[in-house]
Formats: sequence, C-alpha cells, structure tokens
Amino acid sequence: MLETAFTRLVGCSVPIQQAGMGGAATPKLAAAVADAGGLGMVNMVMVPADDVAVAVAALAKSTTGPVGINFLMPFLDVAAVEAAAPHCRVVEFFYGDPQAGLVERVHTAGSLADWQVGSADEAKAAVQAGCDFVVAQGTEAGGHIRGTVGLLALLDEVLDAVEVPVLAAGGIGSPRAMAAALAAGAAGVRVGTRFVATAESGSHPAYIQALVEASAADTVITMAFSGMWPDAPHRALRSAVAAVEAFEGETVGEMDLGPARMTIPKGATPSPTKDTTGAIPAMALYAGESVGNVVQVQSAGEVVRELAEGAERLLRAWYGSRISLADQGHLDVAGESGAFVEPS
Ligand SMILES: Cc1cc2nc3c(=O)[nH]c(=O)nc-3n(C[C@H](O)[C@H](O)[C@H](O)COP(=O)(O)O)c2cc1C
Repeated sequence: MLETAFTRLVGCSVPIQQAGMGGAATPKLAAAVADAGGLGMVNMVMVPADDVAVAVAALAKSTTGPVGINFLMPFLDVAAVEAAAPHCRVVEFFYGDPQAGLVERVHTAGSLADWQVGSADEAKAAVQAGCDFVVAQGTEAGGHIRGTVGLLALLDEVLDAVEVPVLAAGGIGSPRAMAAALAAGAAGVRVGTRFVATAESGSHPAYIQALVEASAADTVITMAFSGMWPDAPHRALRSAVAAVEAFEGETVGEMDLGPARMTIPKGATPSPTKDTTGAIPAMALYAGESVGNVVQVQSAGEVVRELAEGAERLLRAWYGSRISLADQGHLDVAGESGAFVEPS
C-alpha cells in the first residue's frame, strides 16, 4: 500500500530494501524479503564469478519479487558484476567513488544500478555516473559507515542534491523510524540489522542472541574489525569490541568464506555465520542503532510486514485522510483507493 518512486522503479510493493550483508544476507533471506514485497539483496564477496552467476540466477527463480546484489568496492570483482547483472533487477555498489563504467555495465545487462553513499557530494557523483537511485547512509548504520553525518541531516542534503529516488539507511528498525524517513522525503528505507535477526539470515545464533539483548546505546563506531578492510569505520556491538581487545591469541576461529574454509585472525572483518566456530563474542558483531528494535528472532516476512504496515498506519494518522505533499515529492494519501501513492 506504500507506493513510491522506488517501488515503481524497482517493481516491489513495499518501499523496503534489505541490505546486502556478507554472510548474513543469504539467498534465502533475499527471497523471503522479495516474497514479502521488498527488495531482497545478497552480497557474495570472494565468490568466483561463475558461482555468483549460478547463485543469483537460482535466487531470481526462487521468488516472484525483485532481487539485487551488493558489491563492496574494496573487494570488487568486475567479472562477478558482469556475471550477476543479467539475473538481478538491481546491482549496487558501496564504499568507493562512483564509476560510470561500472554503472554502464549494469545498464547494458538491463538492470538498475544504485550506490550507497555517505554524503551529498557522493550522491551527486553517483547520479553523474548514471545511477538510477541512491541510498543515503547515516552514521547510525550497522556495519561499515561511509560518511560522518547522521541520517536525517544527510537525507536532507541528499534530497536537495539529486533528482533520483533516495532511500534512507541507518538506524531504521521500527515503523516510527520508517514513517519518519518517508515523511522526510525518502522513497524507501534500507534495513540491515533487523534482518540479521531473522530465521532466514545466515548469521551465527550467538550473534543474533547478542542483538536481541542489546539496545542502541550498546553500539559503537570502531576500527576494531579492520583486519581485512583498513581505514573503514564500522558500527558494532560494544561488547564485541571489548571482547576482541581482551582476546589473547592471533586467531579467533574458523569460517567458510567463498568456497574455502578459513581461519579468522583476531580483528578480522567478516561477521560470524552459522558455520563459524571459535570465540563468537570477540568477532565482528555489526549492529546499527536500530538494534534496540531487535527483540526476538522473526521471519523476514514478518519484519517487512511489521515495518510497512506500522509505517503506513502512522503516516495515515499523521497526515489525515487526504493530504498531498506533491510539491516536495512526498506521499499523497489517496482517499478512495486507500493506498498511499505519489502524485504523478
Ligand atoms: C551485519 C551487517 C553487514 C553489512 N554488510 C554490508 C555489506 O556487505 N555491504 C553494504 O553495502 N552494506 C553493508 N552493511 C550496511 C548496510 O548496508 C546498511 O547501511 C545498514 O545496515 C543500515 O543500518 P541498520 O543496520 O541500522 O539497518 C552491513 C550492515 C550490517 C548490520
């Protein structure tokens, strides 16, 4: 019922993008989000291009909704981009200067391209590179943080800077937060931490339990897990930072990474997945300020519905039955159909 420029562009029925999140964002999670009406995403760092193609083709067939793949620029494999793009509705990039050549490759395959950005200048560069939409990531976000500004201030700047649809990311874990982002002019929200604590996520149960027990004040921006990815601040549970600092020894455990089983050095970047063994509390337990909204393990579909239906209820209550915010590119509450639609 929440129709926006993003849902129309991408072809989903709910303005929610699930963040591509390393081992947490399994194809099963992406498919469940897409089935529930959102945009489901995967991220396959260190997976060979041929295997990426097979996996995303299978993912696309497993759901009727749109799916996408996220690429981290410091680990970019252009062959994997080319292999994945024909099978995905969206190909997305993060943590590097926007590149027109990459966007062109995505468009040539018939897919949409987007960039997650941390500043208005980066948003402009993404649009100049040809991106179809951008994600504004505030510093409330879990995982790696691109910019230095909180979400609402950033969203304000990015919305003024670009014409394409803008998603809001960082700390959005409740209907209230989602409604606020939409009311501020975002065409949708990108949600990470909430989806880590789902039945379909690939994350280790002890990591998920730590999220359930934590609140927003229990997260911190740190460099503690820079092992494979230097110079990139990230938000994680404070308890994980304390545990890794106290950890004696070079190796915290083992996990499957791409096709190989690898030992995990102390302070390494990957977050623990179901197959990970070792000192889980001392690994990269990424969490956004949205972690306070993680109170139990749910299905991904339940999370999508909770956020979308709750946000819609709040927007209806706030705006009344028929208020057009067309001038600002906001939602129009259409009285007769009962649906929120953006004015054409
Ligand atoms: C466990 C975890 C892993 C993440 N990995 C990635 C990633 O691989 N690529 C990416 O673009 N963003 C990644 N992010 C950041 C998300 O894209 C997004 O900005 C963030 O989750 C939004 O904040 P939230 O967690 O409060 O919802 C990750 C976030 C988390 C929590």
